Amino acid sequence: MKNIDSHSHVRGESVYLDDIPVFRQTLYACVFDSPVAHGKLLSVDTSAAEACEGVVRVIVAKDIIGENEIGGIVQDEPLLADGEVHFCGMPIAVVVATSEELARKAAKKIVVDIEELEPVIDARTAAANGALIVPPKKFVLGNTEDAFANCAHVFEGKTEQNGQEHLYIETQGAYSVPTENGGLRVYSSTQGPTAVQRAVCRVTGLAMHEVEVDVQRLGGGFGGKEDQANAWAGICAVATQLTGKPVKYALHRMEDMRMTGKRHPYSSDYKIGLDVDLKIIAYEASFYQNAGASCDLSPPVLERTLFHCTNSYYIPNVTATAYCCRTNLPPNTAFRGFGGPQGMFVIESAIAHAAEKLGVSASEIQRRNLLESGDEFPYGQIAESEAVTSWTQADAKFDFAALQREADEFNASSKYFRKGVAAMPICFGISFTKTPMNQARSLVHVYTDGSVAISTGAVEMGQGVNTKIAQVAAKVFGLSIDHIKVHTTNTLRISNTSPTAASAAADLNGKATQIACETIRGRLIEVACEMLGGITPEGVTLTDRKVHINGETTELEWESLVMEAHLRRVNLSEHSHYATPGIGFDWATAKGHPFAYHVYGTAFVGVTVDCLRGRYEVDYVKCCHDFGTSMNTAVDLGQIEGGIVQGLGWMTMEEVVYDEKGKLRSNALSTYKVPDIYSVPKEIAVLPLETDRNNLAIFNSKAVGEPPLMYGIGAYFAIRHAVMAYTPCSPDFDLPFTPEKVLLCLFG
Ligand code: MTE
Ligand code: HPA
Ligand code: MOS
Repeated sequence: MKNIDSHSHVRGESVYLDDIPVFRQTLYACVFDSPVAHGKLLSVDTSAAEACEGVVRVIVAKDIIGENEIGGIVQDEPLLADGEVHFCGMPIAVVVATSEELARKAAKKIVVDIEELEPVIDARTAAANGALIVPPKKFVLGNTEDAFANCAHVFEGKTEQNGQEHLYIETQGAYSVPTENGGLRVYSSTQGPTAVQRAVCRVTGLAMHEVEVDVQRLGGGFGGKEDQANAWAGICAVATQLTGKPVKYALHRMEDMRMTGKRHPYSSDYKIGLDVDLKIIAYEASFYQNAGASCDLSPPVLERTLFHCTNSYYIPNVTATAYCCRTNLPPNTAFRGFGGPQGMFVIESAIAHAAEKLGVSASEIQRRNLLESGDEFPYGQIAESEAVTSWTQADAKFDFAALQREADEFNASSKYFRKGVAAMPICFGISFTKTPMNQARSLVHVYTDGSVAISTGAVEMGQGVNTKIAQVAAKVFGLSIDHIKVHTTNTLRISNTSPTAASAAADLNGKATQIACETIRGRLIEVACEMLGGITPEGVTLTDRKVHINGETTELEWESLVMEAHLRRVNLSEHSHYATPGIGFDWATAKGHPFAYHVYGTAFVGVTVDCLRGRYEVDYVKCCHDFGTSMNTAVDLGQIEGGIVQGLGWMTMEEVVYDEKGKLRSNALSTYKVPDIYSVPKEIAVLPLETDRNNLAIFNSKAVGEPPLMYGIGAYFAIRHAVMAYTPCSPDFDLPFTPEKVLLCLFG
C-alpha cells in the first residue's frame, strides 16, 4: 500500500507550515543572532531597527513576560541572550514587522557591543577544562582490567566523528495566533508538540490548557525538530503576546543552518582485546561528545552511545565511559540514531584496527563475535538476537566471500581503481531509553456516515506513520483505507505527547489506535449481534465493510451498523492509552531492560575508489533486514533506502566546518554537500529476514525509522579497504572520509 500522502506530495498539494493560510494582520519575525561564539553582551542597540519601515516591535531578553528559559533537561538555554553569548547564531533580538522582507532588512540594523571571550570548540578541550554538562556516564560488564591481562592481542586507538546537518527540506518555523482571553494557538514544524507547548508556556507564563499546538506534517525532522523547534515557537508566541497579532517565522536555509544544532561530533578512545580465536574478550571506550553551548538532548544522546557501544557483538568485559562536553557551538541535538551510530562506529573501528594488525578480514572478527540469544548487553538486557540469522541469511543470498573475491580480482587487474568491501551488522534498541516516554494516546471517532477520524500523538514527517496508523484502523474495522482520515497532531485532542522519535511512533501510537478501534469494534459487534437476532459475538467479524458470521457474509453493512449503533445511543468514540510493558532502566546500577526489542540486520557494502582523483562510488548496499513482519513494505523500503543514503552522507561527504572562532563555514548548500542522485548506491538490495519470533511491535512490524542509517557506516570501512588495497597506508578513523582525505591517504 502506498503512503497515503503520495498523491498530494507529488502534486505539491500537501500542507506544511508555510502553506497554512495566514490571518489578516499577521506579522513576521526575524531573529538577530550572535556574530561571535563566546562573549559578554555589553549592549544591544535596536533603535535603528525600530525606525525601519514596517517594524512593529523589536524584542530583547528583558521584554519576555514569562521566563527567559527553554532548557528541557538542564535550565541552561535562554530564549534570547542575556548578558552573555555562547555560540555564533545564538538569538539575541527579534524584529517583528509587517512582512518577512522588512523584518529581515531591519534585523540587519541591530548593533551589539560584545566583549569577545575565548571560544572552546572541541570536546576534549572542554573536558580538560572540566566543562561537563552532566557527570560522566558509565557502563560496566565483567572486568576489563583482568580480562586485558589475559588477551592474546590488545589494540588501542582513537576515532574522530563529524557532526551532520539535518537538512530537512522544510526549515524550522512556527506561526502563533492569539485566541480568546490571552490564549495562543501555535502551528509548529515540530516532532514534539508537547515540548513546544511547554516551552511556549514557560516564556509566556501561560498554563498548558491555554496553549494549543497543532502540527499538520513536517518536511522532514530527522531529530532536528525533537527539541529545536521550541525556540521558534517560543519567539513567535512572545511576539504575539507583546503585539496582540499573529506572528510567523519560517527560517531561511542559512539562518537554519547557522542557528540550529546538528548531530553531535565525537572524539573517542578505544582499547580492544582478543583471544587467539579472534573472540573479543575485553573492550574499553571513552566517548567525548561535543554537546555545544547548552544541554538540549545531549545526555540521552550520550546514553544511547553507551547502549550501542558494542553494536551487535557479545563482549563479556566492557567498560564504556561517556562525557557530555560543553563547547561554544550551537547546541547539538537528536539526529537519526540518537548517538547510537557514534557508538557503533567506534567498535567497528576497533575491529578494523585489530583485523588490519592481525592480517585477517574484519568480517572474520565480526562474524565470530555476533550476539546470540541469551547473551547479556553491557546494560543488563538479555538479547533475543537475530545477529547471526541476519548475517547467515545475507551471506546465503549475497555471498560475502564472492563479493570479496570479485573485489580482489578487480583490484589485481585495475591500474588506478580499487574496490573495497565491508560488512556492517547492526543492532538497535527500540524504546525511548527514558522509560516514562514510552506511552501514547489515540482518539478515534466513528461518524454516523461510517467514516473514521483519528488523532494521535504521532507527527508525520515523511516516514509514513500516518499511513501505518490508518492501516491499523482499517484492519481492525475491516474497512478500506479511504474510510479513514488521520488528522493533525494537536495538543487539545491528544495531550502530554512524547515526541515522534526513537523510531517508536508507529509502535506507540499505532498500538494506542489499535486499542481504541478494538474497543469501538467490540461495541459495534454487540449491536450487530442484536440486529442479527440475538446471536453471540463468537465468530462475528468485520471485514470488507460487512458483518460476517463464521466467515459467511451477512447483509449487514458497516454504515447501517454504525448508524444503528448511534440510534441505540452506543458510544462511537474512544480515547485510549498505550504504555510499553516490561521495560525499565535503573541509572543507579546502569542495568535494566530498557528496550521493548532490538532491530537487527547485516549489510554488505561495496565501493569503487578512483585512486588518481580520490573520488569514489558506492556500488551496492546489500542487506538482510529484520522487519519482523512488515505491515507496509513500500513505506519500510523507503525508510531503508533513505536511512542508508543519509548514513552514507555522514560517512563520506557531509562536512560540518566551524572555524577556530566557532563560526560555521559550511553554512549553505554550496559549501555543505549532501548525497544527491549521483551519489546514491548503484544498487540497494533488501532481503527481509525470515523469523517467526514474536515482538512488541505494532502487528509484529518492527520499527524501521533509524536502524538502516547504520548500514551506511559500512561505506567508511569499504572505502578504507579500497584505499589500503592501492597503497600501503592506515587511514585514520576520521570522519567524514571525503575525497580530499582519500587523496591525502593515497599520496600524503
Ligand atoms: N523519514 C523521513 N522521511 N523524514 C524524517 O524526518 N526521521 C527519522 C525516521 N525517518 C525521518 C524519517 C527519525 S530520526 C525517526 S526517530 C523516525 O523516522 C521517527 O518516526 P517513526 O517513529 O514513525 O519511525
Ligand atoms: N531516542 C530518541 N529521542 C529521545 C530518546 C531516545 O532514546 N530519549 C529521549 N528522546
Ligand atoms: Mo529520531 S533522532 O529519534 O527523531
